[in-house]
Amino acid sequence: ASLQPYNTFGIDAKASLLAEFSSVEELRELLQNPEVQALPTLVLGGGSNVLFTQDVEAAVLLNRIKGITQTPEADGKHVLVTSGSGETWHDLVLYTLENDLGGIENLSLIPGTVGAAPLQNIGAYGVELKDTFQSLEALVMATGNVVTFNKEQCGFGYRESVFKKEAKGQFIVTSVTLRLTKEHQFNTSYGAIQDTLAQQQVKELSLKAISEAVCHIRRSKLPDPAKIGNAGSFFKNPEIPLALFEILKSQYPGIPGYPVTPETVKVPAGWLIEQCGWKGKVLGAHGVHKDQALVLVNYGGAAGNDVKTLAYEIITSVEEKFGIRLTPEVNII
Ligand code: EPU
Repeated sequence: ASLQPYNTFGIDAKASLLAEFSSVEELRELLQNPEVQALPTLVLGGGSNVLFTQDVEAAVLLNRIKGITQTPEADGKHVLVTSGSGETWHDLVLYTLENDLGGIENLSLIPGTVGAAPLQNIGAYGVELKDTFQSLEALVMATGNVVTFNKEQCGFGYRESVFKKEAKGQFIVTSVTLRLTKEHQFNTSYGAIQDTLAQQQVKELSLKAISEAVCHIRRSKLPDPAKIGNAGSFFKNPEIPLALFEILKSQYPGIPGYPVTPETVKVPAGWLIEQCGWKGKVLGAHGVHKDQALVLVNYGGAAGNDVKTLAYEIITSVEEKFGIRLTPEVNII
């Protein structure tokens, strides 16, 4: 079966076996199936953070576990919202806006599913998933049991969690619970949000106003995967020693950087890539997005390996010019 409809890069790789599950029971049954057991397993949500570079010799299981419920907390100020891991992330955001629950409005329009969100601790416009994360349930692949992870056990970091490290490949997230607010604290720390709110002459802040501002910003610089194949930021923004940043600053006064610790600075990878002349580059069917150099694109018909080769050419050129080694954010399979 072709995986083309199931990855936002639109790469035409084939899977040995493809199946869907819409409940924990269906997932358990699939994992007991001899044809599935004969193969490695790969769970896909929205397929928005993968690059297939060859056919996938695995049982690809598509997560379609749906349903959103809410439980008010005794303090009257918070609500726990639990979502099936196969819900589309932005549908959950829309649900919170409809129910006037605050905390994930800055994460509007991020492609992918709820279940994939904790794996890389999705983040945008000053907010990360971990800020509202309460707990998740996951199926232990080895036993079929469902276990709970609290926030600490998830080991969240910048685009990181235990599920990308020690726990990799051992669990399938089945639901995620967030702790959201009824009395909101709006996060407008990101400059572009303030600019957009001012431009749109928003007088009173609301969850919807922030969500709309974020959607506006994203649509203006990130390609819509329904139109141009891509997986969002292809690389992570590197965190470098302050000393290196100061040296670079003397050579390139325009270099942007945000302090992370007193000794380290995060530099936008998009800036580094643009400085190396890659922004807007078209190489046949693939290339670098014209409005955001951090996003690699498939204009239609590109092979996953072409995109991977481009990614490594970019890594080499950034390393030669700046002495900084970029790491991919997308899972290359
Ligand atoms: N920049 C350039 N050229 C470019 C792109 C960016 O010079 O082509 C510089 C500019 O100085 C700009 C700065 O980089 O001000 C930051 O750019 P932007 O606001 O677009 O954010 P980013 O650092 O490139 C990160 C996340 C995005 C997230 C945005 C907004 C990572 C890897 N990416 O991008 O997340 O939406 O911030 O918070 O951290 C994703 O993970 O897939 C993703 C899209």
